[in-house]
Amino acid sequence: MAAVKEARHGHLRANLKPEHSAIGSINSFMRCTMKGVCAQCLCKHSEPTTGEKYFVYSCYNQDQELDRVDFSNLNSPLRQNSVQEKLSKLWLDE
Ligand code: FES
Repeated sequence: MAAVKEARHGHLRANLKPEHSAIGSINSFMRCTMKGVCAQCLCKHSEPTTGEKYFVYSCYNQDQELDRVDFSNLNSPLRQNSVQEKLSKLWLDE
């Protein structure tokens, strides 16, 4: 999704209408999926015009405007959990 976001503003720009918007299904880490209970799914956004930062619960709405999503912030918890996922897989294989 981050690559799509970049491509829209890069080499695809000439083929797109200037007023278009892009929505992506954001796969952030989720635990409870109860819309605000555990906060594991928080996704950092920034307002494109003002740069104001805010957070949204991805389990409340997975379909988010690509221009608002901070993909570097989204990647950090996913990478953090990958170690636990690999250990769990090794344990289950054992
Ligand atoms: S997954 Fe728990 S609040 Fe979204």
